[in-house]
Amino acid sequence: MYSVFVTRRIPDDGLELLRKHSRVHVNPCDRSLTKEEIIEGVRDKDGLLCLLNDTIDREVIESAPKLRVIANYAVGYNNIDVKTASEKGVMVTNTPDVLTDTTAEMAWALLFAVARRVVESDRYTRDGRFTGWDPMLMLGVDVTGKTLGVIGAGRIGTAFALKSRGFNMKVLYTDQHVNAVLEKELHAEKAELQDLLEDADFVSIHVPLLDDTYHLIGENELRRMKKNAILINTSRGAVVDEKALIKALKEKWITGAGLDVYEHEPHVPDELKKLDNVVLTPHIASATFETRRKMAVIAAENLIAGLNGTRPPNCVNPEVYTKKVK
Ligand SMILES: NC(=O)c1ccc[n+]([C@@H]2O[C@H](COP(=O)([O-])OP(=O)(O)OC[C@H]3O[C@@H](n4cnc5c(N)ncnc54)[C@H](O)[C@@H]3O)[C@@H](O)[C@H]2O)c1
Repeated sequence: MYSVFVTRRIPDDGLELLRKHSRVHVNPCDRSLTKEEIIEGVRDKDGLLCLLNDTIDREVIESAPKLRVIANYAVGYNNIDVKTASEKGVMVTNTPDVLTDTTAEMAWALLFAVARRVVESDRYTRDGRFTGWDPMLMLGVDVTGKTLGVIGAGRIGTAFALKSRGFNMKVLYTDQHVNAVLEKELHAEKAELQDLLEDADFVSIHVPLLDDTYHLIGENELRRMKKNAILINTSRGAVVDEKALIKALKEKWITGAGLDVYEHEPHVPDELKKLDNVVLTPHIASATFETRRKMAVIAAENLIAGLNGTRPPNCVNPEVYTKKVK
């Protein structure tokens, strides 16, 4: 039987599936593991099921000579040194599709929360400051009929844009590829990033964190946005230059932001926490009971397939097949 290491407890559906096919060692602590603990856990294992906040770098991969599959419990896999994994013949897998609508819904939740000042209003009401209807109280901005800018029109960006149908919006998107679905369904227009930033009232980011998307949105980009614009980020924190964003929010170059992800998670800068024009959530865009269960099953299926010598459904480094797979 194969032996696998799971870096943090995931929903039972996934663990039960894994247990039918392998000896499963789950991190017994209710916390993320340090790199040293991950190395200790994976040292003699054939498979690793890890989270997006586990750094699986060369040192970790080289510490596990038997390792054949790394199954990430996420669609993004910027936490894994895929190049080294491929070099070593180790398959890397992710969990796409099942979290697409869930993540897109969260982007909308943040968009509305910022546009209509939902969190600020909640605090205001709880604090007992609501003393009667006021014509000027908590004015926000309308969503219907405005221009939506989608940066990265892949699975989640597309689902996010399609959900704008009820709000009769003009949709702009950036991507390396033409998105035929968005162009047909919404008459969306593919734009240059700078043009999208200048035109959109709401900008939502859905690109993966790659070398060329690191700080894709920095001071120059924020300065190009409309004064009444709102920025939503549910992708990865480092796609946005957080220091520049704080400056933009403080100095009101833009109206507000909704953030689920941060540049140095779990650290959230105090300066950001002090601002009223930003809504902050703790990286929960895929966090629904249904989706987390599906992610657990898919991650387990990927791991089992790889260990059994078949191609995992969601292998992100197919180049591994041109190498000698262990
Ligand atoms: N906050 C969360 O909990 C959460 C949940 C799910 C996914 N995510 C993040 O969302 C990302 C997107 O997921 P997905 O399933 O839609 O991925 P995807 O691969 O389907 O889509 C990404 C799109 O971005 C495009 N792209 C890449 N570089 C670009 C660039 N420089 N400019 C414009 N477009 C570019 C790609 O062509 C692709 O169409 C993931 O990589 C992950 O980091 C976060």
